[in-house]
Amino acid sequence: MKIAVIGTGYVGLVSGTCFAEFGHQVACIDIDTQKIQRLREGLVPIYEPGLQPMVEKNCAAGRLSFSSDFDPFVGEADVIFIAVGTPASRRGDGYADLSYVFDAARAIAPRLRDYTVVVNKSTVPVGTARQVARIIAQENPHAHFDVASNPEFLREGAAIADFMRPDRVVLGVESPQAEERLRAIYRPLYLIETPFVVTTIETAELIKYASNAFLATKISFINEMANLCEEVGADVHAVAKGMGLDGRIGRKFLHPGPGYGGSCFPKDTLALLRIAQEHGVACRIVEAVVEVNAAQKARMVRKIRAALGGTEAGKIIAVLGLAFKPETDDMREAPALTIIPALTEHGAIVRAHDPQAMKEAAKLLPEVQYCSSPYEACEGAHCVVLVTEWNEYRALDLPRIKSLLAEPVFVDLRNVYEPHQMKALGFRYECVGRKGPIKNVPG
Ligand code: UDX
Repeated sequence: MKIAVIGTGYVGLVSGTCFAEFGHQVACIDIDTQKIQRLREGLVPIYEPGLQPMVEKNCAAGRLSFSSDFDPFVGEADVIFIAVGTPASRRGDGYADLSYVFDAARAIAPRLRDYTVVVNKSTVPVGTARQVARIIAQENPHAHFDVASNPEFLREGAAIADFMRPDRVVLGVESPQAEERLRAIYRPLYLIETPFVVTTIETAELIKYASNAFLATKISFINEMANLCEEVGADVHAVAKGMGLDGRIGRKFLHPGPGYGGSCFPKDTLALLRIAQEHGVACRIVEAVVEVNAAQKARMVRKIRAALGGTEAGKIIAVLGLAFKPETDDMREAPALTIIPALTEHGAIVRAHDPQAMKEAAKLLPEVQYCSSPYEACEGAHCVVLVTEWNEYRALDLPRIKSLLAEPVFVDLRNVYEPHQMKALGFRYECVGRKGPIKNVPG
């Protein structure tokens, strides 16, 4: 199969590379000429485990190429994936900005030759694929094409594995021809018996939002239970385990923390609310999920303040982990972006470390002092706050940390450590939803 992927962001680059790994002939196209030039030199612009060698391997094999020209690739392609960004609109109203998707449709239209399937891989509001079809038909009335929706469910940091071994593949199609072509692309997954959900285009578009909103719901739910655990003296890990062993609930996504972040959950929950609003449907659970998430971040600030004895003014705080989760340098909607400014605004001095995201973080949090190791960050600090659970923070030299700190206060927003062990080491230890000494976090 010949595949063109428009957009070399996270989704486009991972999908294009993995399609090449399946054995297809893939051209990844982006209007950003500098990015394309760097990719041609073998420089992958994002940190994603396993991606760089896979790009190199498939480029060397001649299956993967990068171009800022649509020609000749779009005209030759059997299937074109639109994988451009759909950022939250600048109006801040929760709508997704679809201009890149529609630009891509306009660029594709005049170049179509034989029958082609144009697939939306970007997360787009319900109805977008149909709008893409309308644009292409308007721009090129003779085009022989179908549109389809094939949402992705890649987690950053695990994207290659998620692509190569997905829980399911969702195909929103309107013709047997389009279905056949898309199934052919994913044929290698038949070997591992991946389930295919073949449905209408609108249903496929909604599956993506519903899945992300449901996962976000699990997180907000367990965060509320964690807060309740703190007050009643229960242990949220045991609660999550006890709940999760019920197969109807499932154990995943019940880990409490500072609230979800990243490029998907915050944006997609808001976009789902907008879609519902436009159609006059109440989605009160999702509304609550968004509110609970914001409240959780605010609660973490109060927790840190309480651990510092009631005020952060003039205190040095060591922050470990800035990215919205481990194994990525992505700072989008990272809890650190809310928590750190809330502390520095009230006079705290923040010294931070992150294994990958410091460059990105420095653009957004210029007031922070960036350190080359977690230990350097802890030097002279009145408290250390673990915000992102990178593996290297799971095996910290705790006696060394304690000796570096001005006060032995450890606030663990990811519940990486065990409360009784931290207490035995002499820390004043705070975590989320496990028997901590501080009761009644103010507010
Ligand atoms: C998510 C979805 O998992 C993926 O299917 C979708 O396509 C894109 O969005 P991603 O944003 O990469 O992927 O991260 P994910 O690992 O799902 O975590 C999202 C956020 O939730 C992170 O901030 C993480 O720390 C938080 N989280 C996750 C929790 O707080 N608790 C959990 O139990 C799980």
